[in-house]
Amino acid sequence: MHDTDWNPTSWRAYPALQQPEYPDSHHLEAVLKTIRSYPPLVSPGEVDKLKQHIAEAGAGKRFILQGGDCAERFIDCNARSITNKIKILLQMSVILTHGLRMPVVRIGRIAGQYAKPRSSPVELRDGREIPSYRGDSVNAFAPATPEARTPDPNRLLKSFYLSAVTLNHIRAMIDGGFADLHNPYTWNLHSVEQTKKWAEYEQIVERILDAISFMEVFGGVDSEKLGKIEFYTSHEGLLLGYEEALTRKDPATGSFYNLGAHMVWLGDRTRELNMAHVEYFRGIANPIAVKIGPECQKSELHDLLRILNPEEEPGRITLITRFGAEHVERCLPPIIDMVRKNGHVLTWLCDPMHGNTTTVSSSIKTRNFEHILQELHSTFSVHRTMGTIMAGAHFELTGEDVTECVGGAIELTHDDLGRNYESYCDPRLNYAQSLEMVFSITQMFRNAG
Ligand code: PEP
Ligand code: CO
Repeated sequence: MHDTDWNPTSWRAYPALQQPEYPDSHHLEAVLKTIRSYPPLVSPGEVDKLKQHIAEAGAGKRFILQGGDCAERFIDCNARSITNKIKILLQMSVILTHGLRMPVVRIGRIAGQYAKPRSSPVELRDGREIPSYRGDSVNAFAPATPEARTPDPNRLLKSFYLSAVTLNHIRAMIDGGFADLHNPYTWNLHSVEQTKKWAEYEQIVERILDAISFMEVFGGVDSEKLGKIEFYTSHEGLLLGYEEALTRKDPATGSFYNLGAHMVWLGDRTRELNMAHVEYFRGIANPIAVKIGPECQKSELHDLLRILNPEEEPGRITLITRFGAEHVERCLPPIIDMVRKNGHVLTWLCDPMHGNTTTVSSSIKTRNFEHILQELHSTFSVHRTMGTIMAGAHFELTGEDVTECVGGAIELTHDDLGRNYESYCDPRLNYAQSLEMVFSITQMFRNAG
């Protein structure tokens, strides 16, 4: 049972899944103490605003686009990589705003998405077992040796610094007018233009660019408004010591906020009741997301939602379903029924990535664009039929030209995967596939009328 008393450390009395085993716990606590002494990365006012936007999305007034790397890498904390990630997310949001006639809430899996839950604590390399990679905030991906894979608390400190550097760059880009999307040179469409599907998409792009230049004629897009383009950060709240160190009391309200990100989510592997993650999450004032896969039972979800959102506050819970394309029609309706029967207030999001991962012979993970799209379509249509709202989508994607997911108009095949496979964890949509995904979403809404 979760006691009524909560504080940022109360999770420590519960068993915690997916935590690294640090060889020196004093070192870990010293690092956490340092992080606790630093200023936070975001503010309670921003966090509250996101919660409000998520509530509005739940009511069908906004669409949420959440996306970014499966696992951010320290080596990608550079201007080009961050700029490309923000650029693809902003471009996707422009296409969605135009196609759906709705404001889009942009939430990056960025500036802190450095820790990964793993199915197995060990992996086999050259016939010997070594600890699994758990994200750059825990251990090193390469070399794949027991030494490099030993959890190092200094990596938490580096995660904090690089999250701050990343967020600073995002804020500077957005404040400095990067959000100024009416400059078509930033639309880098050649890869999509060379595909057979371009004819379908060309019109959408032209209409958007037209709409932007039309506004230009009438005195331009309000740069004040553009300057205020909002961008929120999120990551999986996995390493509880780190999350605790960034949990701060808001003097204005007395509430505790996780100020390491605007939103944090509870992964499919750590949402067990009477465990440390649920204990931590129930007490923070942030909007939180919960990811559920096909194994999720209605009754456990009901109990979880009661614990995490006893007041049924709108915007507090985003439920991210990630069943896999072929399971949506079986798994989603009973969950919707349960939520409705019990009056749970939440915002539905579809993650069409995590239920559609396959392993190719060479042990490389991939996802098929068509399966991803199919999960989105099925989820959208089940919600439509049952009278609930799919309020957004959650993607693993990057602004780079990687070859990690197969399919799409650019027709990547299994043979292409070796060419530019960069992810340390799950396969991401590349730039062209990400654009195509939102073109398809706008078509899906249009066809649904
Ligand atoms: C993830 O989002 O990268 C992830 C591990 O997801 P899930 O908890 O849904 O498996
Ligand atoms: Co992932």
